[in-house]
Amino acid sequence: MSEPDKYAVIGHPINHSKSPVIHKLFGEQTGENISYEAIDLPTEELHAGITRFIALGGRGLNVTVPHKQDVIELMDSMTLRAEVAGAVNTITKLEDGSLQGDNTDGIGLVTDLTANLGLDIENMRILVLGAGGAARGILASLAEIRPDELMCANRRLERALEIRDELADIGRISARSFEELTDEEAEVGVFDLVINATSAGLEGNVAPFPENIVTAETLCYDLSYSMRETPFVTWAKEHGCKQAVQGWGMLVEQAAESFYIWRDIRPDTTDVRAKLPT
Ligand code: ATR
Repeated sequence: MSEPDKYAVIGHPINHSKSPVIHKLFGEQTGENISYEAIDLPTEELHAGITRFIALGGRGLNVTVPHKQDVIELMDSMTLRAEVAGAVNTITKLEDGSLQGDNTDGIGLVTDLTANLGLDIENMRILVLGAGGAARGILASLAEIRPDELMCANRRLERALEIRDELADIGRISARSFEELTDEEAEVGVFDLVINATSAGLEGNVAPFPENIVTAETLCYDLSYSMRETPFVTWAKEHGCKQAVQGWGMLVEQAAESFYIWRDIRPDTTDVRAKLPT
């Protein structure tokens, strides 16, 4: 058999990444001859690391924390969705040798919510917690679907307002601070879906989210995932949500979308999702 086409995920730290396992399973399932490794790249080695990987025949890269924004300046071109998200999670070496940045996180989340969890997000009231890089990518994809309501709440209101204004051409987003959510006069009502896009859980803590955002009608979705229950999922269950899920499904779906960009074959994610925790 000929040499496999080389792919990898870059991040720092990277040792817990599940992407190599996921892409290996996709490769086996589709019969595509690929290799996929995890490369630990501290920020100061980012440029040299990417250049080296491509020079050695690399065809594509996934990008994870903390490099999703930093890699933008190294791209020769960007897809519209990566431009809008202001972050890159997929790099492709095009036929002319140039590097294109794309972002499959938003579509990965939407696919998990609709195809896997069976949600009718068009008819939902959705609250996204956080206004950093992770929130920006998914808000653009959710805004495109024009749900009944799409709200972005953040500790620092000005960042939520900034995203609201930047994405105004795509769809309507309302912005609140956490404090404003608890204000009775604000009458925020019941949310069908609350998505945690803050990085607070990464430190093992849950942010001081307002308790009134979760009711027995609310599905809570954490963009973070862990072999143990994430702090947000624990918090959501304690506050009586209908269901709380971690972002494993989004991880698999964004990977499938990257695989599709690179190989022009869409893997079936069912078996891979079944192998991961829920
Ligand atoms: P990422 O790329 O993971 O989104 P980021 O751009 O640094 O990282 O954004 C982190 C997000 O988590 C922000 O929304 C941040 O809130 P602020 O904009 O107010 O800083 C949020 N966040 C992080 N730690 C938090 C905490 N302890 N409480 C509340 N929000 C927190």
